[in-house]
Amino acid sequence: MARQPHDFDALYAGADPPPWEIGRPQPALLALVRRSVVADPVLDVGCGTGVLALAVARAGHRVVGVDAAAHAISRARERAAESIVVPPGEVRFEVADVRRLDRLDLRPRTVLDSGLLHSLDDAGRTAYVAGLAAICPPDALVAVLAMSVAAGLGWGTTGDRLREAFEGPAWSATAVSYAEIAARPAGEEQHLPALLLTTRRT
Ligand SMILES: C[S@@+](CC[C@H](N)C(=O)[O-])C[C@H]1O[C@@H](n2cnc3c(N)ncnc32)[C@H](O)[C@@H]1O
Repeated sequence: MARQPHDFDALYAGADPPPWEIGRPQPALLALVRRSVVADPVLDVGCGTGVLALAVARAGHRVVGVDAAAHAISRARERAAESIVVPPGEVRFEVADVRRLDRLDLRPRTVLDSGLLHSLDDAGRTAYVAGLAAICPPDALVAVLAMSVAAGLGWGTTGDRLREAFEGPAWSATAVSYAEIAARPAGEEQHLPALLLTTRRT
């Protein structure tokens, strides 16, 4: 499902919310935040309309959310402005292409990816992971939640492919576990088979 950034922007600009917009963070990533494995600053890559980044900020962290879709970032900024429990300055949203993360002045100690990696093509994924290696300091945690091919949507990833993306000396302690993604691929919310990769920058 290698959509280009402008395809995503058009989906956010449409009358109906895109199928991944469930109005709350994906539980698998929120669970990591609640287990206190998250160190600041946090980068939410492909943050969409900001629900995960805002939940992380509410848990007391400093967060930057980036997404290539300008409509999504605009909505994320509105959500942040509407929120009365996020302290000002704890969360910020930027339009950025994750295939050029090295252009951002960020040194995240935690990176959360809620459904971004699985939407990149091979070249995009390679550039994205190289950018992560460039900006993450040693011991930074990267957590990627991706749709599994087992969801039967005709796209998705496997544990082997996820591990392959983070192969090499830049990454250690890589682990993949079974998880779920909540989405509305056909209107009704469903809980679809997904994979959660965690890895550390060496
Ligand atoms: C499936 S959506 C997930 C959105 C959000 N993380 C969530 O859980 O609701 C994938 C997101 O990745 C963003 N995206 C796709 N390609 C991108 C790129 N090259 N750079 C930055 N963001 C990108 C899309 O605009 C979209 O918001």
